[in-house]
Formats: sequence, C-alpha cells, structure tokens
Amino acid sequence: MASEISNAPTRSMWSGKWAFILAAAASAVGLGNLWRFPYLAAKYGGGMFLLTYLVLVFTLGVSLLLLEITLGRKTRFSAINAFSSLDKRAKFIGVLASAVPFLITPYYCIIGGWVAKYLTASVFDGVGAISDGGGYFTTFITANSSFIFALVFIALACIVVALGVKGGIEKANLVMMPLLLVMALGLAIFTVTMPGAMEGAAYYLLPDFSKFCPELVIAAMGQVFFSLSLAMGIMITYGSYLGSKTNLTQAVTRIGCFDIGVSFLAGLMIVPAAFIAFGSGEAVAENSGPSLMFIALPQVFDAMGDIGGIIAIVFFVLVLFAALTSAISLLETCVSIVQDGLGKGRREAMVITFTFVAVMAVFVNLGYNGLSFIQPLGEGSTLLDTFDFISNSVMMPVVALLTCLFVGWVVKPKTLIDEIKTSSKFVLEKAWTVMIKYIAPVLVVVILIAYVAAQFGMFSM
Ligand code: PHE
Repeated sequence: MASEISNAPTRSMWSGKWAFILAAAASAVGLGNLWRFPYLAAKYGGGMFLLTYLVLVFTLGVSLLLLEITLGRKTRFSAINAFSSLDKRAKFIGVLASAVPFLITPYYCIIGGWVAKYLTASVFDGVGAISDGGGYFTTFITANSSFIFALVFIALACIVVALGVKGGIEKANLVMMPLLLVMALGLAIFTVTMPGAMEGAAYYLLPDFSKFCPELVIAAMGQVFFSLSLAMGIMITYGSYLGSKTNLTQAVTRIGCFDIGVSFLAGLMIVPAAFIAFGSGEAVAENSGPSLMFIALPQVFDAMGDIGGIIAIVFFVLVLFAALTSAISLLETCVSIVQDGLGKGRREAMVITFTFVAVMAVFVNLGYNGLSFIQPLGEGSTLLDTFDFISNSVMMPVVALLTCLFVGWVVKPKTLIDEIKTSSKFVLEKAWTVMIKYIAPVLVVVILIAYVAAQFGMFSM
C-alpha cells in the first residue's frame, strides 16, 4: 500500500476498512460521550436534547466528518500539508487545525488522570471514600501530586501510540472498544431496571417540545463537534491512512452510529440514576454540570448498597477505556503533525510530542494547585477551563468555518465529491454541497458567537 503514496513513503496505513472505522469511532467515543453528553441531556430537558442531537449528528456532523476524512484520503497528508497541497494560501487553516490537538491533549489527559484516580480509589478504598459530596474531588485535584495520575494516563496512551498504527492503535481498539460497548450496555440495562428508574428514563427518552430553545441547539451543535472529534485535524490524519477502496459515505455513517450509540447508552445509564438520586428533572439539571461524574455519580453508586461498589468499578473502567482511546487518537494526530510539519521521522516526532504533552499537562494541572492564582477567564476559572475555552469554543468553530469556506468556495466541493465517488456512489451529493457551502458555515458562526458571549456573561447557557 505505502508504495502507492509518493509524498510520504513511510506513512502508516490502516490494515482495512473496519480497522479504520473502529479507530475513528474510538477517537469519537470518549469523555464527551460518557461525561459531557449525559450532563447536557440532563440539563437541556432530556428527550428534546437527545432528538436534536440525533438530527444534528446525521446532518451537520456526518457531513463534516465526510469532508475531513475525504480531505485526508485525497491528499494523503495530515492537516497542514493537506490544506497547503490544495492551495498554498490555505496552509494557515491546517496550522490552526493542528494547534487544536496540542491544546486539547494535555487537559484531556488530566481528566483521564482523574478517571484513573477514581478507578483506583473505587477498587482500593471503596465507593464510600469517593462519595462525600465533593470533598474528595477537591482534595485530590488541589493536591500538588495530582499530576501523577495524568502522567500515568499519558504513559498508557503513549505506549500504544509508540507501538504504531497497526501494532498499537488497531490492537488496543480491538480489545477496548468491544469491552466498552458491553460494559455500557450492561450498565444501561442495570440502571433502567432499578426501582424508580422509569421516570428518569421517560424524561430522557420522550421529547418535551416545550423545552426546545436556542441554547439547547447551540449546546447540541458544540457537542457534535467535540464528540465526533471534528475540526482539529484528527479525521484528516485518519483519512490519510485510509486505502483508496473504502466506501467513505458508509464509513462516516457507521462512525456516526457508533458515537451516538454510546452517547445514548451513557445517557440511559446516567440520567435515570441521577433522577433516582435527585428526585426530579429540575434537580438533575441543577446537579448536571461537569461535576456529575466525579461528585454526583459516586453518591449514586454509594446509595446502591453493596452492588454499587462493583458498578462504580465497571463504570470507571468503561470511562477510562473511552478516554484512553480518544487520547490515543489525539496523540497520534500530534505525532503525525510533527512528522509531516517538521519533516521528522516517526520516532523523533513521538519523543517531541510525548515530552510536550507531559510538560503541558503538568503545567495545566498546576492551575488547580501551585498556580491556582492564574485565573485567565475571570474569578475562579482555571488553566484547564482556559485551554478548553480556547480550543473548543474558539478555535474549533473557527477552523470548521474556514474549512467549510475553503472547500465550499475555493477548492469547490466537486474536488472532494470526485474523491468520494472513486470508491462509492454518492446519492446525497447535492445536499452535502448545500450543507458545506451554506448551512454549516452559518451554524458554526452561531456556535462561535454564542460560546464566546456565554463565556463573557452576555448569554447564559
Ligand atoms: N471525541 C472525544 C470525546 O467525545 C474527544 C476528543 C476530542 C477526542 C478531540 C479527540 C479529539 O470525548
């Protein structure tokens, strides 16, 4: 395979279509599905959020996924060179996209470290220790030594990336993804069959149209980007490792189904459980911030009695797997960017990337302890919040907007449509063109304005 590619003879390749789909799904399925999706669903009225999200994934999400993967496969480069090989002036879009994983990886690994900590604590100290209503969490993250868990998490992800695309990433996904699905399914069945779960399940599953509002749509759109790992060069890189025969439209639909399937199950296990613990939709919404996973859920587990200890362990293993497979995709993308962008060999690129991520993670982690006086986004904000805001709320929408404008209006959708058609029919060609040229850019501008306005208190979400 590799010999066909004149621009990068050492480029890695997936061993087949399913390896690619699994890898893209593994990147997509992560903390976004297990942590962010349930709390957004709980916050924005359950079923109505679920329905809106479903529609957005299969319109906006899958269209942009198709765009990025095709861009990668056509050019056989990661983001920077993918853009510049189509038009020299567009190189900066690739540079911006490539900066995003470098910003996200360090703090994603810190949260991965929290999950690792909670897993160890639920195994060794029992769920009672972590369910004290927030004290445990605060003590842990404000301790200077908390970065150790982030480093352990980073080390695990680095080992997989160091073993290579076929020898590491594919194998790790092949083990972790099926297990993840089984655990998610098992836990979802467990929670919906708990006494009193029906009310919560109904809240989560039945759309209440009166809950529909702009904030809900904006939150759902932001979630589509984060959850599908869009606008940060990951899918471009993964597409660039893809054989020329793979049916792209079918692949992106499957990736979308995978991602939404896990989000759906996560909501199904978490929303009814939180409902039982807090009693009503409003109370769930109030407790449904980012602290849902680390403060509210442990209390739910504790209240389950003896079985809660086991459920907590299974739950944190599940989250750890999801976080690890996503972190692996982030690291692989960074490696690939350093490789292509700086013209380094894979080995050297790995050393540079791993060192950078570890150092940055320690730095961002200091935002909770040694450097907590640095509060860039105002009173009480942390370095992690700041990295999250810059990457997710500002850079991702900007990159998505520039990408759509570039493909829609400069290189023209036909360039990518031709690539898609080399391996399959493309029935929705016209709809896709309209999405990329008109609809997606408008939606992305709305997300950008809303997120920035919300951050500075001009809009509440
Ligand atoms: N999509 C991942 C999730 O849902 C997060 C992620 C973002 C992974 C960006 C890679 C890159 O958690």
